[in-house]
Amino acid sequence: MFQNTKNIKPFEKKVWLSSPTMHGDEQKWVNDAFVKNWITTAGENINEVERIVAERIGVKYAVALSCGTAALHLATKLAGERLYGQAKPNCGTLQGHKVFCSDMTFNATVNSVTYEGGEPVFIDTERDTWNISPAALERAFGLYPDVKLVMFAHLYGVPAKIDEIRAVCTRHGALIVEDAAESLGATYKGKETGCFGDYNAISFNGNKIITGSSGGMFLTNSKEDADKVRKWSTQSREAAPWYQHVEMGYNYRMSNIIAGVIRGQMNYLDEHIAQKRAIYERYKKGFEGLPVSMNPFDAQNSLPNYWLSCLLINKDAMCLQKRTDTEATFTPEKGKTCPTEILETLAKYNAEGRPIWKPMHMQPIYSKNPFVTADDNKTDVGADIFARGLCLPSDNKMTPEQQDIIIEIVRSCFE
Ligand SMILES: Cc1ncc(COP(=O)(O)O)c(C=O)c1O
Repeated sequence: MFQNTKNIKPFEKKVWLSSPTMHGDEQKWVNDAFVKNWITTAGENINEVERIVAERIGVKYAVALSCGTAALHLATKLAGERLYGQAKPNCGTLQGHKVFCSDMTFNATVNSVTYEGGEPVFIDTERDTWNISPAALERAFGLYPDVKLVMFAHLYGVPAKIDEIRAVCTRHGALIVEDAAESLGATYKGKETGCFGDYNAISFNGNKIITGSSGGMFLTNSKEDADKVRKWSTQSREAAPWYQHVEMGYNYRMSNIIAGVIRGQMNYLDEHIAQKRAIYERYKKGFEGLPVSMNPFDAQNSLPNYWLSCLLINKDAMCLQKRTDTEATFTPEKGKTCPTEILETLAKYNAEGRPIWKPMHMQPIYSKNPFVTADDNKTDVGADIFARGLCLPSDNKMTPEQQDIIIEIVRSCFE
């Protein structure tokens, strides 16, 4: 064990936050596409990967798309059409309508509302899972009773409080778009995330637990919705001898090459989850005695996929940290630290961490949108977790020895 950071050498090979893990089977299916010359947005890999993923998640239909963002966009468009009818020319389906959205998430969760002309209303985060707060959501329906759509994500692979969220939505007659981009393979009460919304999306981008380099899927039990998404994602071509168009189209279909990568990798999902879980548990043990906690989850009802392991520093162990819109600084203090110091120290040793997703209500692009907290005092849980939290290197190829060094580096920041 190292006594302090002075004895630690930088990693020769970078330790990543979460990098792709290839097994060889991916190459086989990519080659298959080459040999058969299905180098396009159709082919056996796409059909197979749709079948495999739908079966794994427990939905009837999966539509393979170019990315999770595309899946969220078309999910949101479907919801908008169902709620408010077909969009007028040059308008989105949510034009002029508010939509309740997770606040602490990647911007893709909420941008799809904006693409469709809607106005995201950000709902604060709860402390038990770092996801959308059912209490804040209930309060938001009191403030904006006309809202009929809720979008929420499962942050870092930790399932949100799905039953509570669904109960609030049912009470107020609202539909749900579930963003399971980060939580493939995570379960809630024994069912896989990605099957709980009225419309559901997952992602296979480069740092996800299963990756095709890019890619996403729309998931549903409705044949009609699946057919519509398939049509919209291939430029909304009508059944005619020429390219005939009645409605707006998109070029959102997955490539058969990318589908080959995902097809080869899906068999390893449980292995990746087990590796990521071991990383989370090793961190938890390694940080015993430090004034920190790991990103929490509801152990009674859910099993995360442990996509990213995150750390939260206790309030009284935080040194002074200042963040502008583009820069972060801190004032070192004995016995205390902050995410900026830990991230900079990790970077010095060639290891990649990341700040927590900066909440959407704090983003310049959305700073004028409404933001609803769980209480009247406007206690901003998301801002607090953003200030005190960080994502640790969570790559499933990190060795226990490398992880011990990461733990030691983090520990040294508290000296
Ligand atoms: C919560 C969340 N939603 C949506 C996306 C978008 O997925 P993609 O990058 O495949 O478009 C991501 C990740 O990238 C994400 O983390």
